[in-house]
Amino acid sequence: MSLLTRQHKKLERNITLLAICSLIAVVIGGVVEIAPLFWIDSTVEKVEGVRPYTPLELAGRNVYIREGCYNCHSQMIRPFRDEVERYGHFSLAAESMYDHPFQWGSKRTGPDLARVGERYSDEWHVQHMKDPRSVVPESIMPPYAFLADRDVRTDDIGEHLIALRRVGVPYTDEQIELAEEDMRLQGNADGYGPDLAVRYPKVQVRDFDGDPQRLTEMDALVAYLQMLGTLVDFETAEPMERSE
Ligand code: HEC
Repeated sequence: MSLLTRQHKKLERNITLLAICSLIAVVIGGVVEIAPLFWIDSTVEKVEGVRPYTPLELAGRNVYIREGCYNCHSQMIRPFRDEVERYGHFSLAAESMYDHPFQWGSKRTGPDLARVGERYSDEWHVQHMKDPRSVVPESIMPPYAFLADRDVRTDDIGEHLIALRRVGVPYTDEQIELAEEDMRLQGNADGYGPDLAVRYPKVQVRDFDGDPQRLTEMDALVAYLQMLGTLVDFETAEPMERSE
């Protein structure tokens, strides 16, 4: 019997010693996982362009969560070549720093959506949401046509912003006060919203669902999908590491 086996036998037969050694192992693991959270500000590197969601995007994100889209879609591109070639630059921690809860997901029945923004037209999204098989014949995604018939709720959006501010999203008093107005402003068919662009850089202002008379949950969801992955400019960001 080797020395190691003999020592292990001692350890396994002495319950106190085993408990103490297990505790030490668990404590080391715990410290490694928990300690970085105490320095979270330096753990999540600052990235230019990342901003809190506009009220309309946030409402769309709430629809996304309510409908359980995360059960089939991830929003996290891993730093592997196959993923980067298919979806684009791998996800950065800072890109989900204002997500409560984050939508990384753990299952991909459908493709990753972290960089789906501006990849398709609004019309494509609306058609795809209403009847996925009309644009992707082999699709197994369920239809969500009813979203186009439901007015998006606007009266409680300020409270959503307040709730997010409590957990650290830096919404200003002005943004909270104007939340309801900003939500309608972003759905403006004439695409005019210079004030909005000051509060939310890179905001996309237009009618998203093809029905300029109403602000629907479809407007909100498409506004959300169209901004995913568009805030950070990876052209000017540091060059991607290549592993040749
Ligand atoms: C049962 C699983 C399932 C659910 C739930 C689901 N999807 Fe999908 N989704 C898919 C599949 C599969 C595809 C690929 C085929 C296609 O394009 O329809 C897809 C494709 C997509 C695409 C196109 C992505 C691309 O890059 O081509 C978008 C956008 C999308 N889904 C959004 C949503 C949204 C928003 C919801 C929630 C309202 C949702 N999906 C719910 C399975 C699902």
